[in-house]
Amino acid sequence: MEPADIQGDLTEVLLSEADIRVRIAELCREIEHDYAGRGLLLVGVLRGAVMVMADLSRELRRDVEMDWMAVSSYGAGTQSSGVVRILKDLDTDLTGRDVLIVEDIIDSGLTLSWLRENLQSRGAASVEICTLLRKPDAAKVEVDVRYVGFDIPNAFVVGYGLDYAERYRNLRAVGILAPSVYS
Ligand code: PRP
Repeated sequence: MEPADIQGDLTEVLLSEADIRVRIAELCREIEHDYAGRGLLLVGVLRGAVMVMADLSRELRRDVEMDWMAVSSYGAGTQSSGVVRILKDLDTDLTGRDVLIVEDIIDSGLTLSWLRENLQSRGAASVEICTLLRKPDAAKVEVDVRYVGFDIPNAFVVGYGLDYAERYRNLRAVGILAPSVYS
């Protein structure tokens, strides 16, 4: 759906579908260059990363493998605690593999910081991170992220995989959710 389909639910459209498409293509050219001559395993983190994974993988002009993980952060309320539980693990043996984690957003950084260490400990040759969005002002831990689509303000954003109570994931754009929706 388009922002026009949920008029009133967004206070602002941060990134249009075209903005996202153009930036993903730029990231793909970098990835193609950096991983030339090497196999590449994309690891998507359910559920938010589904849209980025679908568009990024299809834009890449090379062969890749894809696998998926589902993780959940323990913590009180909406705040991530940094303690992560694996709900669905990879089916792929990571020994010697070049792994690129594909994410929709890095917020506190706690999930990705934990995930990278976890995948590295399985004997991967390399583990890098690609995220469409990053909220620098929300960072609790520094995560070395190789590919960042956009740095965005510390606001409640939805769309392109990002949800509020499982809604808005299928929005083509990324927008700031109106407080009237969640208050
Ligand atoms: C989001 C996002 C990351 C995580 C980032 O997932 O996809 O996995 O939060 O937050 P952090 O940097 O503060 O750790 P979420 O838990 O909302 O699950 P979802 O992908 O199923 O929506």
